[in-house]
Amino acid sequence: MTPPSPSAKIAIVGLGYVGLPLAIQFAKAGVAVVGLDVDAAKVGCVNRGESYLRHIPAEAIAAQRHAGLLEASVDFSKVAQTQAVLICVPTPLTAHREPDLSYVLNTGRAIAPHLARGMLVVLESTTYPGTTEEELLPVLEAGSGLKAGVDFHLAFSPEREDPGNPQSRIGDIPKIVGGLTPSCRDQAVALYSRAVGRVVPVSSCRVAEAAKLLENIFRGVNIALVNELKVIYERMGIDIWEVVEAAKTKPFGYMPFYPGPGLGGHCIPIDPFYLAWKARAHGLNTRFIELAGEINTAMPLRVVDRAAEALNAAGRALRGSRVLVVGLAYKANVDDCRESPSFVIMDALRERGAEVEYHDPHIPLVPVTREHAHWAGKASVAWTEANLRRHHLAVIVTAHQGVDCALLGQCVPAIVDTRNAMAAVGSCRAKVWKA
Ligand SMILES: NC(=O)c1ccc[n+]([C@@H]2O[C@H](COP(=O)([O-])OP(=O)(O)OC[C@H]3O[C@@H](n4cnc5c(N)ncnc54)[C@H](O)[C@@H]3O)[C@@H](O)[C@H]2O)c1
Repeated sequence: MTPPSPSAKIAIVGLGYVGLPLAIQFAKAGVAVVGLDVDAAKVGCVNRGESYLRHIPAEAIAAQRHAGLLEASVDFSKVAQTQAVLICVPTPLTAHREPDLSYVLNTGRAIAPHLARGMLVVLESTTYPGTTEEELLPVLEAGSGLKAGVDFHLAFSPEREDPGNPQSRIGDIPKIVGGLTPSCRDQAVALYSRAVGRVVPVSSCRVAEAAKLLENIFRGVNIALVNELKVIYERMGIDIWEVVEAAKTKPFGYMPFYPGPGLGGHCIPIDPFYLAWKARAHGLNTRFIELAGEINTAMPLRVVDRAAEALNAAGRALRGSRVLVVGLAYKANVDDCRESPSFVIMDALRERGAEVEYHDPHIPLVPVTREHAHWAGKASVAWTEANLRRHHLAVIVTAHQGVDCALLGQCVPAIVDTRNAMAAVGSCRAKVWKA
């Protein structure tokens, strides 16, 4: 079996936040890519050179379409024309907060009949250690009649993405690669070396799977720590934001994490529970993960309590008050509202009788989500003086660049600020409550 040739063609399954930029990156490196997705709308967009992700410019897709290096399809038989398949499909939790590998396994079933000797399959979706070997491998072998590590190569390489961060470029982010066998790993290293600056080989798929979870658990636990300190320091009359600014001047042994309204996005609120589930199978508890989850999950409701306090101070109750939630995306400058704490906050405000509207420049309409479907189709309120003045309170959940907080400060009487966004405005008419 030889490494992919200079005229290599690969398939990338799942053209979402991970798969689409990866496809563009490989195409830029001269590797022809067929992107496969079950969502015909995304496939159509790619083929027309259009973008459906805010941080991916249409020109980046169109350029690779014109170069003949990128196409998209719903037809999985196209796998047969390729030398490698990279799987970038979702790995959410079930309603019982257990790993939902159905997307990965369905992909395995769809590609297996089209695998041929010498091909490479790489799982990129975040998951618990053991998934590639214990779950994906049997599906691929059963559907192809081939033996992994002998007839075809199998590897795991986690994606590292920082959507919305213009400094973060996919080709500059080191890529961890673990293989079923040393030869599987070498094949995957050879492929990724064509598209990214640094590839980090590790001894197995499990190590690569575990490394990704370590990164995200580290983040979740540290965010929980700073959220807990926020509550404690607040009681002591100390501003956590000022504390973090001061602490981060230490040139070693410290890395800043910021408090907020709770976790959001497809990764940090979910991935740790993949490990917690697997650890239980080994009879072990993941105490840091559980505690961090508990602290971070409490944050949105704390924000709502602060909203009630702010209104109370102005002689109003939550019931009957008009509250504007600023930001629906889970973090600044992205259009992704998966698992966003904004939904929990909006639900709780509404349950307590408030009239709730939202503004998000990147999410004009609330998309359909599994857990918050009742908000689907609601429109973002335009950022006009008249609209802002209608509200008794604003809750800043996401600090998107370009949202005019100075105008907000002039138009609403009270603001609950979870991101320290009002600090840049200085003095204003509104009373600002940090949360
Ligand atoms: N979003 C991030 O910043 C990020 C970062 C690192 C890792 N990850 C991980 O990468 C994986 C993908 O995440 P994402 O954010 O790109 O998800 P996404 O929802 O944006 O994209 C997934 C895509 O897969 C498609 N899909 C679903 N089932 C399919 C199937 N059976 N066959 C083909 N396509 C299918 C969907 O239509 C969608 O276009 C997840 O495991 C996630 O945890 C995400």
